[in-house]
Amino acid sequence: MKIIIRINPLFVALFCLLVQLSTCDLTGWPALDVPPPNRTDFTAKVDLTKVRNAPLNLVSNIANGTCPTTDPYCYNPCSKCTRSDDILHCPTVNDWGLTFDDGPTNDTIAILDLLKSYNLKITFFVVGSRVVSKSDVLLRAFQEGHQIGVHTWSHPYLTTQATEQVISELEWSAEIIKNVTGARPLYMRPPYSDYDDRIRDIASQLGYRVVVWDKDSEDWHFKDPGFQISWIASNFSAWMNEKSTTGHISLEHDLFTVTAQQAPLVVDILTKAKRNIKPVADCLGFPAVATPASSSSVKSSSTCRSVKSSATMDINYSNSWLIILFLIFGVNNYYYIL
Ligand SMILES: *[C@@H]1O[C@H](CO)[C@@H](O)[C@H](O)[C@H]1NC(C)=O
Ligand SMILES: *[C@@H]1O[C@H](CO)[C@@H](O)[C@H](O)[C@H]1NC(C)=O
Ligand SMILES: *[C@@H]1O[C@H](CO)[C@@H](O)[C@H](O)[C@H]1NC(C)=O
Ligand SMILES: *[C@@H]1O[C@H](CO)[C@@H](O)[C@H](O)[C@H]1NC(C)=O
Ligand SMILES: *[C@@H]1O[C@H](CO)[C@@H](O)[C@H](O)[C@H]1NC(C)=O
Ligand SMILES: [Zn+2]
Repeated sequence: MKIIIRINPLFVALFCLLVQLSTCDLTGWPALDVPPPNRTDFTAKVDLTKVRNAPLNLVSNIANGTCPTTDPYCYNPCSKCTRSDDILHCPTVNDWGLTFDDGPTNDTIAILDLLKSYNLKITFFVVGSRVVSKSDVLLRAFQEGHQIGVHTWSHPYLTTQATEQVISELEWSAEIIKNVTGARPLYMRPPYSDYDDRIRDIASQLGYRVVVWDKDSEDWHFKDPGFQISWIASNFSAWMNEKSTTGHISLEHDLFTVTAQQAPLVVDILTKAKRNIKPVADCLGFPAVATPASSSSVKSSSTCRSVKSSATMDINYSNSWLIILFLIFGVNNYYYIL
């Protein structure tokens, strides 16, 4: 017995087009959590001759804790080396720069609700590629007065990336933040605090202040065996009892539900101890963004449906060859005989 299947090529072409539209490839933004493409307009913003030429690190060395024997480029993770421009804490006693990294996520929403009920503003260092599907959350955070900082596009160890790639990581993120909120951010935080003089030079030429922290909640360890989630709150409580001549900046993450869920405990501890929770930019007394948010060109949160004019920049053509093929042969019908 022969089964004859008749395939209408135009139907298949339409089907492929629908598949392509539904996979969100037409938003104009690079993909989630992978290094974004370089852009000459981004690279042109940096005078490469004025970037100190620190050698690139290897992920494998960072992973196994191998440090260079000398530290001419003030590589922070190994030597804890800092330069005077690095921001580790708020200058004024009792000021507390509360920061959450790696969002925006669904779990950011509960944090925003909490902060609203306390009428508090804080800082979120966001991963640019995670803004694509959560631009509504980012916009809400911005509109409610929180500071938005750049935390790269794909969260790499920046010292392992070529200079052009570092620029792309920062500028794609700044562009999506600008396009969603209307304002260009003026602060960046290197993932894993992995930075050296090369990264400092790139960041400062692009107009960013580099913000790390002096109080690490270590919440990012929460999956480790033996880690107790209650340590986060108990660390904050212990910090309240320390004598200090400056304010502080703490590190937490809104990437994970359990770590985001510590926010009510932490805010309670800080407010009871009369700490002044504020965005990092406020505790430093410098603006958070380059341009006041005037007309924000807000993108729909369902970016699949908003096909931008810039879409040609980064379309994933994986399905397109099928469409072209079927369109070329679309004048005929083909019969497949099995
Ligand atoms: C961001 O907005 C600018 C200015 O409107 C526009 O030129 C650019 O294409 C937008 N970027 C993306 C990836 O949509
Ligand atoms: C960007 O440029 C750098 C340096 O030329 C290169 O190593 C990197 O692979 C490029 N990134 C992409 C995503 O093409
Ligand atoms: C760490 O990894 C690098 C690269 O694979 C290797 O050369 C080095 O010997 C390793 N060091 C340790 C302490 O394991
Ligand atoms: C986040 O929330 C949206 C809307 O409620 C839902 O569609 C999506 O699956 C959620 N994402 C995650 C990672 O839970
Ligand atoms: C603070 O956190 C560290 C690491 O997460 C933990 O080892 C320590 O026990 C905690 N301290 C308190 C007082 O909970
Ligand atoms: Zn991070």
